[in-house]
Amino acid sequence: MSNRTFTMIKPDAMKNGHAGAIIDRIIKEGYKIVALKQTKLSPEKAGEFYAIHKERPFYGELVEFMSSGVIIAAILEKDNAVASFRDLIGATNPANAAEGTIRKLYATSVGENAVHGSDSDENAKIEGSFFFSGLEQF
Ligand code: RTP
Ligand code: MG
Repeated sequence: MSNRTFTMIKPDAMKNGHAGAIIDRIIKEGYKIVALKQTKLSPEKAGEFYAIHKERPFYGELVEFMSSGVIIAAILEKDNAVASFRDLIGATNPANAAEGTIRKLYATSVGENAVHGSDSDENAKIEGSFFFSGLEQF
């Protein structure tokens, strides 16, 4: 069990003005910010990041959405980070997300669901290194 996870605030939450509230919530929940930046994914980079979903019917839409505007990428640290952060963000579809979760509060639909959270320690490491060099992680 590792103590780091990776997150993105997705283009919908950025456009809807929720970035500040989401970062505030993350800090209040006890996550330490190890790295953080605002950036924009090209369609190529978004496709690479979500390559695991290449064969899924929503892949094209997902790539288009994730490259449609700026995002905030961050590495977060807390005990049991991957699982606890998945609990904090809630179900993929905000309609099924528990009350008080970030997706329940800020997501609009299953496709445009406000935040990303790594699904395993291994992917957290891969995804963190996708955006940040060792020199950018503290
Ligand atoms: P994420 O990777 O972004 O944290 O989301 P997740 O684990 O909860 O869900 P995942 O199955 O990994 O799907 C990745 C993202 O693809 C979009 N999606 N759209 N239209 C659809 O049915 C559908 N299903 C998934 C969502 O943006 C989802 O977060
Ligand atoms: Mg996922």
